[in-house]
Amino acid sequence: MYIKKLKLTNFRNYDGAEIEFSPLTNIIYGNNAQGKTNILEAVYLFAQGKSHRAKTDKELVKFGSDFAGLKIEFEDSRRSHTGKMQILKDGRKGVSINHVNITKLSQLMNYLNVVMFSPEDLNIVKGSPNIRRRFIDSAISQLYPSYLATLMEYNKVLNQKNSLLRSGKLSGKNVRDTLWIWNEQLASLAVRIMIARQEFTDQIASGAGAVGKDISGEKLGIKYIPNIRLDAITAEDMCEYLNDHADREIDASSSQYGIQRDDLEITVDGRDAKLFASQGQQRTAALSMKIAQSEYINDIKGEYPILLLDDIMSELDIDRRMYLSERIRDKQVLITSTDTDLKGDNTDTRLFKIEKGTVKDVS
Ligand SMILES: Nc1ncnc2c1ncn2[C@@H]1O[C@H](COP(=O)(O)OP(=O)(O)OP(=O)(O)O)[C@@H](O)[C@H]1O
Ligand SMILES: [Mg+2]
Repeated sequence: MYIKKLKLTNFRNYDGAEIEFSPLTNIIYGNNAQGKTNILEAVYLFAQGKSHRAKTDKELVKFGSDFAGLKIEFEDSRRSHTGKMQILKDGRKGVSINHVNITKLSQLMNYLNVVMFSPEDLNIVKGSPNIRRRFIDSAISQLYPSYLATLMEYNKVLNQKNSLLRSGKLSGKNVRDTLWIWNEQLASLAVRIMIARQEFTDQIASGAGAVGKDISGEKLGIKYIPNIRLDAITAEDMCEYLNDHADREIDASSSQYGIQRDDLEITVDGRDAKLFASQGQQRTAALSMKIAQSEYINDIKGEYPILLLDDIMSELDIDRRMYLSERIRDKQVLITSTDTDLKGDNTDTRLFKIEKGTVKDVS
């Protein structure tokens, strides 16, 4: 799969820009704050429906403009696709793929697959569990839109359960008699999510383990750590667990158990990477996971995703950089950098110079 063209109108610091990409390596270079990451962000928007960094869609509209417009043309092994997006300054957004309007986020997934790797991804290893959950959830959602729908449904029911628990505390009412209704719904949604998370983690673990070994010879371990551990992941057992632990939740007046507290355990040579790994080891672990994610997408879809590498080359040592360059040689990749020394002598590589929201193809 590869992107042929991207067109931006009043998007971030771009008035208007049109970029034609190479199906292989594209280097987007320029000084700080010129608009390099904005390009990757625009591509990411079509893959995930939301920005990887903006809190609200409003931020994406160029200051002083009424709306932003984006257009993307990409191709997979079957056909070409056209995506269009319009974001109004009040944050309302319209998306279409191949001229069909998309009304739900989950409908957008699975058209354009991307894997982004940026310096903040170190937090997948270093940061709090919610960052690891976000990694798993967005990775699985890209491949299985129904996973996202299930997750959103779960969160909705969880909110309802939480308001019940809160109202119990406020009114002194006994909520136990109704709590099981929510638990039953949560359990049936949760098992679907847990099974998907377990399967995804197993795949990533084996892929990342192999990459980690290739890069540094160290043993990278990744394990799914569900908050509720069951011998068999069934809705009945899950529901029973929740009902058995109702006291604690009623006491706390909020949910205390469930997939909203799942985590991944990441180890290097058997030791917790969060605590013991160096920055470089943590970065290698994150990189290995991202490469494994790309391979997994390729296994499932038969299409390698587009890699968006934001400013990471300068953070890798020469061995890791060489390894990565070798792995991505025959894939489409969009790399941002403040210099051009990544170009090498590959004639298929395209080079774009970014200056104050303008793009110049200087290949
Ligand atoms: N809504 C907006 N309207 C206009 N300009 C914006 C908007 N949002 C961000 N910008 C500008 O875009 C620029 C940042 O772009 P971007 O993050 O792509 O930079 P970059 O080239 O990746 O820089 P760095 O090398 O520092 O990562 C900043 O100058 C910022 O002020
Ligand atoms: Mg940037």
